[in-house]
Amino acid sequence: MKPINVGLLGIGTVGGGTFTVLQRNSEEITRRAGRPIRIVVVADKNIELAKQITGGACRVTDDAFSVVNDPEVDIVIELIGGYGVAKELVLQAIKNGKHLVTANKALLATHGNEIFKAAQDKGVMIGFEAAVAGGIPIIKAVREGLTANRIEWIAGIINGTTNFILSEMRDKGLSFDTVLKEAQRLGYAEADPTFDIEGVDAAHKITLLASLAFGIPVQFDKAYIEGISKLDAVDIKYAEQLGYRIKLLGITKRTSEGVELRVHPTLIPEKRLIANVEGAMNAVLVQADAVGATLYYGKGAGAEPTASSVIADLVDITRMHTADPENRVPHLAFQPDAMVDLPMLPINEVITSYYLRLRVADRAGVLADITRILADEQISIDAVIQKEPLEGEKEADLIMLTHQTREKRVDAAIVKIEGLGVVAGHVTKLRMEELGK
Ligand code: HSE
Repeated sequence: MKPINVGLLGIGTVGGGTFTVLQRNSEEITRRAGRPIRIVVVADKNIELAKQITGGACRVTDDAFSVVNDPEVDIVIELIGGYGVAKELVLQAIKNGKHLVTANKALLATHGNEIFKAAQDKGVMIGFEAAVAGGIPIIKAVREGLTANRIEWIAGIINGTTNFILSEMRDKGLSFDTVLKEAQRLGYAEADPTFDIEGVDAAHKITLLASLAFGIPVQFDKAYIEGISKLDAVDIKYAEQLGYRIKLLGITKRTSEGVELRVHPTLIPEKRLIANVEGAMNAVLVQADAVGATLYYGKGAGAEPTASSVIADLVDITRMHTADPENRVPHLAFQPDAMVDLPMLPINEVITSYYLRLRVADRAGVLADITRILADEQISIDAVIQKEPLEGEKEADLIMLTHQTREKRVDAAIVKIEGLGVVAGHVTKLRMEELGK
C-alpha cells in the first residue's frame, strides 16, 4: 500500500522521539493505520542534528516553508512551538491542503479559533493530542470516549514541572526557590521556567480542554492564571496537617452562571487519587453525568510519551483523510456550527472553598473580630486551627478553612481583616476543591 508522506518541522526532543518510535514500531503502526506512515522530510535549523537523528532515512532541510509547500507531503507535524513562525507555517500548510499534527498548545490556545476555522474551510484535519498532557490520550477521551455525556467539570495536573516542584517542596520541606534551582539542575525545569511556574502552560492546556468539554470557542484570554512561584512551604505543611495536598490544577467547570476557567494552586483532600500524583506525572479528572468521574494518568512530557500522541494523530489522519470532512470527528468535539458562546466567569464570581492563613496577635478577642467579619460576609467557617506562637514570638499563625462561598466575598473579608490592625502582613488565600461529585 502506498505510504502516507509526512513532513516534520522541528527535530528536538519530541521530533526525535517521533522519528524513533515511528521507525521502531513501523510494522505495528502500519497494521493499525492500513498503510505505512513515512517521514519524507525534516526541517530543522540544526541541519547536522537532523542528519544525525534521521541517519539518511529522509531529506533534511533548514527551510521549514519548503516543507509546508512540498507537494509530496500529505501531513505536516509542527513541533517548533510558539506563536510566531509556527503560526505562519501552520496556516500555510492548511492553505496547501495538508493535514496537521501539532503539540503547540500555546498556538492553539491563543489562535485556535482562526486555525480550526481555516482547517474546516479547507477540509483538512488537525490532530493536537500531544498538546495536552503529553502521552495521556485525554483529547481522544474527551472528544470521543465521553461523547454520550454532559461533561460537568475537568480538573487536571497538566504541568509536570510544577508538580515535580510541589512534590519536592512537600517531601523535603524546602522552599520554592531552592527546589526550582534543583529542578533546573536536573533538567526538570527549563532555564526560563516562567510559562511553567506561572501557570501559563497549564492555562493553555485547560483552555483547550474547556472547548472540547463544553463546545465553546478557545478563550485563553478569559483564563484566570496564578502559578506556584509565590507559594510558601508553610502552607504545604499546614495543608498536609489538615489532610490536604496542594497541587497546581487547571480547572474548568460549567455552572448555571457560566464557565469557570482557572489555574491556581489548590488544596485537594489527600484521599483523592489525583492528590497522590507525584513528581513530573500528569493526571486529568473528568466529571461527567453518565459515567461519573474518570481519571487519566501518565507522563505529560518527554520524547517518547509525547511522540506516542503525535503518532496516534498520524494514524487517525491516515485512517480518516479520505472520508468526507463532515463525517470526521470535529476538531473541538462539537460540530463547528453547534459551538456555543457561554459566558466565561471572572475569578471573583467563582464559588469554591478557601484556606486562609493569617499571622495574628495572640490575645483575647482577635479570633472573635475575624469570625465576625467572615459572618458579615456570610462566609461559613469549616475549620480553624491556631498554632502556638514560637518561642519568644507574640504572634501566632491562624488557619481557617471556609465552606463554599463566592470569591468576591472572601476578598472583601480579607480587606477588612487586614484592616483590623491585629494581622501582621497579608492574609494568604488559597482555593480548595473537594473534587467529589
Ligand atoms: N512543560 C510542560 C510540563 C511539558 O512541564 O509539563 C510540555 O507541555
